[in-house]
Amino acid sequence: MLKETWRNDQEYMSYVGELLAKPEVQKLANYTQHHFSTRLQHVITVSYLSYRLAKKFNLNARATARAGILHDLFYYDWRVTKFDRGTHAWIHPRIAVRNAEKLTTLSPLEKDIIIHHMFGATICPPKSLEGLIVSLVDKYSATQEYSEHLIQEFEGKMLKNFSFAKVSK
Ligand SMILES: [Fe+2]
Ligand SMILES: [Fe+2]
Repeated sequence: MLKETWRNDQEYMSYVGELLAKPEVQKLANYTQHHFSTRLQHVITVSYLSYRLAKKFNLNARATARAGILHDLFYYDWRVTKFDRGTHAWIHPRIAVRNAEKLTTLSPLEKDIIIHHMFGATICPPKSLEGLIVSLVDKYSATQEYSEHLIQEFEGKMLKNFSFAKVSK
């Protein structure tokens, strides 16, 4: 989704281009996020859709775009790695902030967006509308990325059954 629209959006790229060029962000391409999407694809989708909404509502589009890119900046498989000190939903936004602060200076708004993006799975709501947008878009994107997988699986099964039906005639 989004294809390459985000790449050609000059204002958007002026906010996130530098971050996207960093190896620490590019490394997210090595992690699967929701079946067929990599973590890098996921953060770009969340960042760009949230940025567009923030612009529409005259909010801080720069902070929204940057925090969207950085909101899942962690390097483990969340299906495998478990923590003693809390759930993945609570811990990974904190890890993401720590990792993001090694790459750039975060504003209080950007920190709020990243820390509270799991609102719903956690009980701590964001303090900003930008945070609420990223949190909602994150859930929307996760659902879409996951359902794309289910649709493809369904289409695969249908194709398989259909070819079987054709051969057996
Ligand atoms: Fe996340
Ligand atoms: Fe996410």
